[in-house]
This record gives sequence, structure tokens and C-alpha cells, in this order.
Amino acid sequence: MSESTRKTGTSLLRWACVPHALVLYLSILSVLFNSCDTVDRSKFRTCDQSGFCKRQRAVKEGYSKYKVDLSNGQVSSDKVTFSVVNPDGGHKYILQIIAYDGVFRVKFNEESPLHPRYEVEHALLPDLKTTSMQVSKGSDSWTLTIGENAVAQVFGDPLRVDLFSQGKKVAVFNGRSTLKFEHLRQKPDVNEEPKEADDSENDVVESSMWEESFGGNTDSKPRGPESIAADIDFPLTQSLYGLPEHADTFMLKDTTNSDPVRLYNLDVFEYELDNVMALYGAIPYVIAHSPEATVGVLWLNAAETWVDVGVSKGGLVDSIVNLVGGSEENKEGRTRWMSESGIIDTFFFMGPKPADVIRQYGKLTGTTPLPQMWAIGSHQCRWNYNDEDDLLSVDANFDKYDIPYDSIWLDIEYTDGKKYFTWDHHKFPHPVEMINNISSKGRKLVTILDPHIKRESGYFLHEDATNQDLYVKDKNGKIYEGWCWPGSSSYLDFFDPKVRQYWASLFALDKFPSTLDTYIWNDMNEPSVFNGPEVTMPKDMMHYGNWEHRDVHNLYGLMHIMSTFEGLLQRSENRLRPFILTRSHYVGAQRYAAVWTGDNKADWGHLKISIPMCLSLSISGMSHCGADIGGFFHNPDAELMLRWYQTAAFQPFMRNHAHIETKRREPWLFGDQITSMIRSVVRKRYALLPYWYTLFYENEKTGMPPMRPLWLQYPDDVNTFPIQDQYLIGKCF
Ligand code: GLC
Repeated sequence: MSESTRKTGTSLLRWACVPHALVLYLSILSVLFNSCDTVDRSKFRTCDQSGFCKRQRAVKEGYSKYKVDLSNGQVSSDKVTFSVVNPDGGHKYILQIIAYDGVFRVKFNEESPLHPRYEVEHALLPDLKTTSMQVSKGSDSWTLTIGENAVAQVFGDPLRVDLFSQGKKVAVFNGRSTLKFEHLRQKPDVNEEPKEADDSENDVVESSMWEESFGGNTDSKPRGPESIAADIDFPLTQSLYGLPEHADTFMLKDTTNSDPVRLYNLDVFEYELDNVMALYGAIPYVIAHSPEATVGVLWLNAAETWVDVGVSKGGLVDSIVNLVGGSEENKEGRTRWMSESGIIDTFFFMGPKPADVIRQYGKLTGTTPLPQMWAIGSHQCRWNYNDEDDLLSVDANFDKYDIPYDSIWLDIEYTDGKKYFTWDHHKFPHPVEMINNISSKGRKLVTILDPHIKRESGYFLHEDATNQDLYVKDKNGKIYEGWCWPGSSSYLDFFDPKVRQYWASLFALDKFPSTLDTYIWNDMNEPSVFNGPEVTMPKDMMHYGNWEHRDVHNLYGLMHIMSTFEGLLQRSENRLRPFILTRSHYVGAQRYAAVWTGDNKADWGHLKISIPMCLSLSISGMSHCGADIGGFFHNPDAELMLRWYQTAAFQPFMRNHAHIETKRREPWLFGDQITSMIRSVVRKRYALLPYWYTLFYENEKTGMPPMRPLWLQYPDDVNTFPIQDQYLIGKCF
């Protein structure tokens, strides 16, 4: 984001980056964390300031009494369906267990909700193949078996599901009886005295249930309270990973004394390190790993979600002590997932080894299609290259200084007044000629296209969107207006197939003056709304299908990149692979785009955190990951710039990028010695490109990410579990 550039956070501390033959060893001293915290926390909610999170977090163990009717389960070859009742109040639910290859899906919803409840679309691959299960019925539990080794035991009173892999109990659903499903209900009459709730699901009656205000915005909450939550525990291990995107440790920390981990796609200006505040992407997925077994859990819900993590009192530090000391105490890792709306839809990837979990997750959510060789080379970006001469001279300097690179990028200033799919004709009068000039050397151009549309009469896209009904609306049917780069803007409703088709059609070369060597950067797609609550869209805006923004928020960016992907395919009549970089992401985004870690800062802590952030994204499907080289905000000194290049050269996505108010930082601007060291490490990157390409091929086929935590390769070696400053590229580098 823009706002004004703050003071440069340069660090006097130094560290060494020493790649060696087998392991990329990045030795980083922990004392290096000293970045200045500048995020404006008052803009973002804590759990206590979020009505549903506060209600759900207050639930005590043993709270819920849901009873499964085991006498009457409906069995088909790949699915078992049970009726469930909450004896407190008698509300009825449906529990379904569905089998896929090595995967159990546990779905829980109201039997007849007052309104339909949202079930996530587009994140999973279409037409998933289920598999058959063996079912053995008992009086207090049913046992469901997939293949030889994956077993789910469903207990009736109270509802609980134990999951076993090769005879070991690896996960438990609702073992602590904290499942709480706020069923939909009529709004109480305002003239009536507030009543005591009629059942345990509603036992806290709060004003925030039907309307909630934060930071000057009021959420009208027309459907009232509808949150859901459940505990999922891992008896064998406290080594839990995942839940990106956070600027935090790779191994998840205990949240008993902090906020839960928050998953709500947000544009956070100058984000802080080492905490669980929400960032641009949300992947509600955890891998629980132990030498005995590995299991993955996906909580398929696109509403705002918070996850409590229980991994012994001291969190990471205790875990390390336990692991190294071989302690058997506090083995169980705990999680509790809380979402504002939707249904409980949980997948258990039964392993047993980490590579199996990765493969099973990839089979359900898809993998990254093999990127082009140029897309895994070195990228050069800046907000902004000012005009054609500027861009061509930067391009020429790469030749002059003999530093390999493959693409140059244009940020928002290339457009005519931030109107996407247009060019500023003063600064870029000959876009096609300019692109041909660089592509004649085998290079590409990447241009930015954001999802907010300038509300300017005469701008074709705004006119089309207004006339063809393509915008997100408010609850009264009025087009929603927010503030973003162009000023007053409206937001395309990518949930509508008609909108996706329209957006895709804009990439045709006769509509957007460009060439087939032009690729796309989709930014601000959380979506970012500068004057919206928490810098995003209000939750009571309405999308296609009559869904509130609340239900689908974390999916907005996925829908944006899906339609860009389609546009790039259509433009080349399905001949050429698209390349897209996205900031916002959700489950399945890996099928369409690479990802970067957003607006980081030129300091050592941000360089260091790029590794756990990309490891976490990598094991959660988003394998083509990188961070802005040099740090987006502020100015890196020569040493930081060099070290950043040396690190990024060994990360999946490699791009130099900077804020508009920073000094130029092309690789030849830091003195001859630094230029030559940057040249040398970029050449190393290029020498290894065939290796990266092969790894990305493996990634497409198996889901195995090119950037790997050590435990993925050495699952039995407990010493590797807490490591987040070393990783492997493939299995042999
Ligand atoms: C956002 C992006 C940043 C980009 C800027 C202008 O802040 O994260 O990379 O340069 O917008 O488009």
C-alpha cells in the first residue's frame, strides 16, 4: 500500500548466507529481529473485538452434547449419513462422512436451516472421485475403513470422530466436546424483552449478534449469529504447521495467551513480524507431523476464521526442548477452528507419511501447473518504471551488466489514471512496440490488473460493469462504492460466471493493447478497500447467488485469478500457459497463480521471515512463492540487498520490487563489488533452472513443493521439526 514512506529501518546487524552442497543453510541469529513495529493495530480486530470469536472462544470443554443417531445411519458405498440432535433445545443436524482416496471428509450442517448456509465452491477440483468404504456398525460407534489403513470411528453420544492411520490414533474431531454450531434463527422482536436462549448453542445473548460496529463501520448482520466451531486434536504430536498466511514461525505457536491465528484476507500496511494477525491470504490447513504418522486437516470455510492452537505451555520453545530432549510429555497438539458462517466441512488427509499427505491434498485441491522456464527465472519490478524509455533502459542495463533476467514488470502507473486495461499514452505511447522490443530478446512483460474499477463515466469498463450488472452490491441492491488506487471505485463480482467471462474477454489482444508475451499481476484482491472496515469490503455486501460477502470473503482473490487465468488461456486459444502473480490466496489458488508475501520491509527480520512464510505456503499448496527482494518499503543498504538476492535466488519465485518512494535498486546500483556478487548468485539461479523446472514438474504431478522443510525429506528425524532457517530445494540440494 502507499501511505507515506516511514523511516528506513536499516539494521546494523549482519548475518551470513552460506549455501552448500546438500542443504541450503541459512544461518540466522535470532537477535536479528529488531524491526520497528508500525502496523496500525487499531484498524484490525482482535478476537475480543469480534463478536463471534469472543463467543466461540468462551466455550468450555465438555460444552456440547450433540448426539448422533447410530441406529439409523444411511450407508452408500462412499458415504455415511447420520441424523444428529442437540438435546439442549432439540435442533437437528446432519453429519456426513465421505471417502476419497486416503481422505475422510466430515461434513456437519443444520438439517433444515432457515436460509441456505454457504458451502465453499471453486476451491476443490471439480468432479472429485470418491472411493468406497467398509462400514461396520456397533451400538456406541461405527467404524469406517478406507483401504487397509485409514479408519474413522464415529461415536454417538456425544458426537466424536476418532481417526486412525495404520492403527494409530492420529486425529480426533470434537474430542473435547467444544463443537458449537449457531443455528440460524428469526431476529427477536425489538419490542420484546431479550429472552434467555432456548438451547446451549445460544446460551450467550449479546448485542453483537444482530449488529456489530468496529472502527466507525456497522455490520448489519441480517442473518444474526451463525458461527461454527469445533476442536480437532492430534494425539501424537505438537509439531503443527500450516495456516498461512502469517509473518510468523513455521511451526505453529501456542495461542493460549495470545489471539488465535486469524484467517481473513486483509491488506495490512507495514505488517509486523512474529504474530498471528491476518495477512493477504488464508489457507485453513494444518499438517500435524510426528515420526509415527503425519496427518493433514483442511477446514473448508471461506468466512473469517480464527484457529486456537494448543501446543504445550511454552509453544515453540517448549516444543524444541521436548523434541531435543525426547520428552514424551504433552504430546497432544490441539486446535480449535472458529468461523463466522458457513458449514463445518473438514478433510482429514490420512498420510501416513508427509509425502502422502501432500499428495492427497494435491489430489483434492489441485497443484501448480508447470510454470514456464522464464517464470522461474529472475524478475525485475518497481512501482514504477516511469515510461517506455525508462523500461527499455533498465532492460538494456541487464545486458550491459550481464545479469540474467527474464521479465520486467509495470505497476499501476502505466495505466491511464488507474483505469485497468488502458495505457497512459503519454508515458507509454507504443506499448506493443515496447513489448516486442523486449520479447525479441526472449523476455516478457508483466502488467498489473487490480479488481477495483474506477468509477469514471466514459471509462468503458465502468460503463460495461454498470450497464451489464457486473458489480458487487450492497444489501439494498445499490452498487457498492469504496476507495482504492483510482479513488472512488466499485468492485467486480467475480463470483458471477458472467463477470468472469466478461473479465476474461478483456485480455483479447484487440481489447488490451499488448502481445502474447504480456503476463499478469493481480494485486489488491483481498479485496483491499482503503475506507472499508479493516481495509476491506463490508461483510453485508452481496454477491452473485445471494451470498453475503461475509460467507465468501476469503475466496474473492481466488475468483479474480480464476478469471484472469481463463482470459490468458482464451487469448492464446488455449495454446500458451498463463502466468499470474497474486497477493490474495485461498485453497486452490495454486492452480492459477504464483504468490508473493506482499508489502514487506527493507530490514533483516523481513528477509529472515521470508523463509518460514514460504515454507508454510509451500506445504499448503502455494509452491511458487517469494518475497520482494530488498523489501518493499524503505531502502536496503548494499549488504542487505546482496543477502536478499542470495536468499531469493534459492526461493521458488524471485522478484526485485520496491515502493514508489524508494530509491532505485536495480542490481548494478550498489557498487561494482556488489554488482558482481549479485551477478554471480543470479547466474547460480540460472545454472539451476533445469533443476527447478524438474522440481516444478514433480510438483504438478505429485504436489511435492520445490521448497521443502527438512522434515518432509527426513520425517523420522525429530531434530528437523523446529528448523525454519534451513530448507531443501527438492531432495538433493
Ligand atoms: C500494493 C502491492 C505492491 C504494489 C502497490 C501498487 O501495495 O502490494 O506490490 O507495488 O500495491 O500497485
